[in-house]
Order: sequence, then C-alpha cells, then structure tokens
Amino acid sequence: MKYMNLYRGYEKRKEAIDKRISSIIERSQFVFGEELDTLEKELANYTGAKYAVGVSSGHVGLVLALLALGFNAGEDHSNKEVIVPAMTFFSTAEAPSFLGMKVRVCDIDEYFNMDVKKLESLINKNTAAIIPVNLFGQCANFDVILDIARKNNIFVIEDACQSFGASYKNIKSCSGKLGDIAVTSFFPAKPLGCFGDGGMVFTDNEEFYKNLKQLRHHGDEGGMNHVKLGTTGRLDNMQAGILLEKFKGFEEDMTYRRNAAKYYNEQLKGIVKVPEIAEYTQSVHAQYVIQVENNRDEVRAKLAELGVPTALYYPHPIHLAPILVKKLGYKEGDMPVSEYASKHNIALPIDNDILKEEQDIVIDAVKKVVK
Ligand SMILES: Cc1ncc(COP(=O)(O)O)c(C=O)c1O
Repeated sequence: MKYMNLYRGYEKRKEAIDKRISSIIERSQFVFGEELDTLEKELANYTGAKYAVGVSSGHVGLVLALLALGFNAGEDHSNKEVIVPAMTFFSTAEAPSFLGMKVRVCDIDEYFNMDVKKLESLINKNTAAIIPVNLFGQCANFDVILDIARKNNIFVIEDACQSFGASYKNIKSCSGKLGDIAVTSFFPAKPLGCFGDGGMVFTDNEEFYKNLKQLRHHGDEGGMNHVKLGTTGRLDNMQAGILLEKFKGFEEDMTYRRNAAKYYNEQLKGIVKVPEIAEYTQSVHAQYVIQVENNRDEVRAKLAELGVPTALYYPHPIHLAPILVKKLGYKEGDMPVSEYASKHNIALPIDNDILKEEQDIVIDAVKKVVK
C-alpha cells in the first residue's frame, strides 16, 4: 500500500488526459494557452471568485499574493508583521519572511487551525496581514478572523493550499470571500493535484487581480514593459490541461474522499483521537490525521511493519523552524497545542481512490498497535 496512490487518479481518466497532453504538444501551447484560460474561468466559476490567476505553485502564489497587496519586492518591510498559525507547512511563514516581513505565530485550536481566541492579542500597529491556513482540508474560523482584520485594517490571505473544494458556512474556500486573496496548490498530493507543481490565486478585487497577472509574468504590463518586480510564476498550460480533465470528476472525487474519512472515523473512534471537523466547515480531508497519546514514533514503526505507510504533518511547528526560531525569539513551550500536535499526530493513508480493503488493512493495523 502506498501512503497516497496517485496513479489511480490518472488511470481512471487516462484516455482524456493523454489526448489533452498530445493536443497541447501538437499546438505547442506550453506557456499561456487555451487550457490555462479555460481552467481559470472554470475554477473561478466553481468557487464563486470574480478572478482566478494560475500560478506555478502554492508557495509562489503566496509570495505573489503579498506582492499584489503592495508589499513590493526590494523594499524594506522589516517593520511589518504577518500572523500565521504555528502548525502549517513552512511555506505559509516562508513567503512573508522571504519578503523581509516579520512573522508572528498563533497557536492552533482543536481543529488544527489558527486559534481565533489568541489572535487579537497578537495584533499591534505593525500588523499588516493575517494568513489563516485551512489545515488538512477544513476551513479556519473566518467570521472571527475577518472581523478582527476589518476592525484593525489588516489584509487577510486565505492559505487554501489544502482546501480547494472545502467550504466555510456555505462559502467556498478560494471564493475570494474569505479574505482579500486566496491561494491554493495543485501539488500532486492535493485533493485537486496536477502532475508537477501548480497553484491558483483567487480574488474579488480587480486591482489585486491586475497586479497578480503582471507579477506572475515578471511585472510585465504588456509589450515587455516591466512595471513591477515579479517572477516566472505562471501555471504551465500542460498542467492546466491535466487539471481541466481531473476537475471534471472533482466533486465525485471529494464525495468519495469524504466517505473514506467518515469510514475511518467510524472505525477508529475510541481507539485513537480521530480528527474533529468544526460545525462551520466542510472538509476535503487533504490529510487524515489521528493523534496517539503515547509513543507516536514507535506506533508509526509498528504500522510500517504491518505494511501501513504514514506521514507526519508537521514534525516542527513554525516557531521552532531553524531559520525562524533565532530571529523571532520563540522557544519550546510557547505554542503548546501545536507542539503537542507535532509530537502526537500521525497521518494515515488517504487519497481520492483509496480502496475499502486498504482502509481495512489500516484500521486493523491501528487497532493492533494502539491498545
Ligand atoms: C498550507 C500550505 N501552504 C503552502 C503550500 C505550498 O504549496 P506548493 O507546494 O504548491 O508550493 C502548501 C503545500 O504543501 C501547504 O500545504
């Protein structure tokens, strides 16, 4: 068994994907092209966002989002602070740090997302933006986050790299309604994954949209008039074509994935701590993360012996990341909930096509190992 079997996602649409790839090669539309335009329209339509801009990865999307808000490259932002959750992929903190902004870290709640009760105390006159993350596929508590942000005149970037397809109180993640700009990732292991790196940025704001379009293409406003410092940040047309084919079955895939998560919940409840989903959000279960009270690493090793691969999200909370810890002055003990998660979390196999037989192997192994 693989931790994620990504081949099946290709196999079930092989003919359509192969045809699409050949057609792109025949037309030689590699950078920009019909597929990219269509995908942007379709995903904007699906999420309800006014604008969508395909980018080369989720991380590049986060950097471009900050640039689009006006935190320009090459300028001094050392007095600007960005709040991120302590439990997330490094990229969420790396993007503002890369632009010279100061990161402040917020501990997480029982849903693995930014603890909104702790958010307000982190805000000061230098706070420029909040980047809530929809970790493992469920949305953070946006009503509270947006309320605090509006009151204090702070930008919000929705890090939706794990939550394309999820929703918050019937508002779709990536709709551009859960903040000023939303960013998702199409890394192959994501619920909607491409065959390499890719991402998309969404917004309802026309100015940010125009900025994003220029910034992903070296700040070119057209005719090689470089009016901003950007990067090579476009989504390849080939990846857009693959995504267009995969998107046709996306809703069906997410229903399947939700049922797989539900089945794990039913079978594992009471044996380990199963993931809780807040009542205000529907998750796409980008990861299925349990917690064990004792001997996490031993449990993982025993599961591996029984043929069950697992993963860790994330072994190091952001505030203890080697590059940030010294600079920001955090220490072990500062973010207890995130630190607990980093030591007790285990991610079990899940993908859009996991078989019930495979889930049963996982469930039996967990029952055997965690007594
Ligand atoms: C929460 C979060 N933010 C940002 C990223 C960066 O996305 P990418 O890998 O496409 O650069 C990821 C991807 O793993 C992520 O999970």
